[in-house]
Amino acid sequence: MALLFTPYQLRGMRARNRVVIPPMQQSTGVDGMATDWHLAHLARFAMGGAGIVFVESTAVEERGRNTHGDVGLWKDEQIAPLARIAEAIRRDGAVAAIQLGHTGRKAALQKWWNGHGPLTEADAARGEPAWPVAGPSPLPVGPGWPTPQVLETADVEQLIQRWREAARRAREAGFEALEVHGAHGYLIHQFLSPVANQRTDRYGQHRWRFALDVAEAVRKEWPDDKPLFWRVSLADVADGGLEFDEMAGLLRALKDRGVDVVDCSSGGGISSYPTQGKSVSNSLLFRAELAARLREASGLQVMGVGLVVEPQTAEDYIQAGQADLVAVGREALYNPNWPVHAEVALGANDNYGTWPLQYRMYLIRRAAAADALRKADSTKSTRPAAPYTEASS
Ligand SMILES: Cc1cc2nc3c(=O)[nH]c(=O)nc-3n(C[C@H](O)[C@H](O)[C@H](O)COP(=O)(O)O)c2cc1C
Repeated sequence: MALLFTPYQLRGMRARNRVVIPPMQQSTGVDGMATDWHLAHLARFAMGGAGIVFVESTAVEERGRNTHGDVGLWKDEQIAPLARIAEAIRRDGAVAAIQLGHTGRKAALQKWWNGHGPLTEADAARGEPAWPVAGPSPLPVGPGWPTPQVLETADVEQLIQRWREAARRAREAGFEALEVHGAHGYLIHQFLSPVANQRTDRYGQHRWRFALDVAEAVRKEWPDDKPLFWRVSLADVADGGLEFDEMAGLLRALKDRGVDVVDCSSGGGISSYPTQGKSVSNSLLFRAELAARLREASGLQVMGVGLVVEPQTAEDYIQAGQADLVAVGREALYNPNWPVHAEVALGANDNYGTWPLQYRMYLIRRAAAADALRKADSTKSTRPAAPYTEASS
C-alpha cells in the first residue's frame, strides 16, 4: 500500500494524496495580477493528480516583490484572477493553496531569464526600474546589493497588518490552505536572523517577534478549519543563521499560534543567492534527517521538499515518518503528470482511476492498443527479416 497515495486530512482540509506542488514563482504577473499563464500552469498540476497545489509566493505589499513579474495580494483587485485559479485547481480535484511572501532586502531583482541580480540602469531602460528595498537593518545581502531602508517600528506594525489583509484576500479568493514564506533569506527570515537583524527595538531584542506577530495576524483572518503552513530554510543551520535548537523553539512557538505544518525547504540561506554562486547541501539525507528531527522537536506536521525525482523516494520519506507531505517542484515542471505516473509506479492505480474523467476511457483503450502493437512487434521481430528490395512498395 503506497502511503503517498492515502488521503491527508488536516483541520477541515482533505487532500486526495500527499503529493504537493510547492510554490514556484513564474515572474509573469502583470501589475501584481495573476494571468492566464498562471491558470494553465497551475491547473495542469491538479489535472496531473497532485493532492495540494500551491500558488507561488504572492507579495503582501508592492515593495516586497522579488521581481516586476511577481503576483500580489496587496489590493482587492488582485483577488479575482486568483479566485479563478483556486476554482480551477479545486475543480480538477486538488486542494488550492497559496503562499504569501515579502522579500525584504532581496526585493527588486531581475527576472531570472534576465540574470536574477539586483535591477540595473539597463533594466530601467527596458522599463523595469529598481525600487527602494526595505529590511530590518541597513545591511545589504552582499557586495553589489542595495542597502535596505530600515523599517521603523511603526512601519513593521503596519506591515504585519498587510500580512493580515493579504490573508483575508486569500480567504476571499477561496484558497483552502495558506503558507507563510519564512525562508530563503526573505523578510521574515531577515528578522529572525542575527545576520540581518541588528535592531534595538522589540523586533530586534526578540528576533522571533516579527514572525510570531505575523502568524497571529494571519491566523486572525485565516479560518480555524483551514491549515496554515510555514516555510523555513533548513539550510540556515549550515549558513551562519539559525541553529537547530532555535529553529525548533521558534516552530513550537508558531504551533502555539496556529501553525500546522512546517515546510522544510533548504534552498537559500540568509545571505546566499544563486548569483553569488553560494549553494547549500543538496543531499537528500541532510534534509530528511533534519526535517524528521524538527518534526519530533516541534510537534508540527512536516512537508519535505527538494530534489524528489523518483516516486519511491517520496514514499520512503512518508514510510520512514520523516514527512507527512512531500512536495515535488522541478520534477513536476518537467512532467506535470508526475503524481498519476508515480501512482502507477508505486502500484496504487491500475486503471487510470485518478486521471481526469475526460481522458480515462481513451487512455484505457490506448493502453490496450499499445499492448497489441507491442505484441505484434515482438512476433515480427522473431520472424526472419524480409529481404530488402528497392522496388517494394
Ligand atoms: C521556478 C521556481 C520558482 C520557485 N518559486 C518559489 C516561491 O515562489 N516560493 C518558494 O518558497 N519557493 C520557490 N521555489 C522553490 C520550490 O518551492 C522548491 O522548494 C524547490 O524547487 C526545491 O524542490 P524541487 O527540487 O522539487 O524543485 C521555486 C522553485 C522553482 C524551480
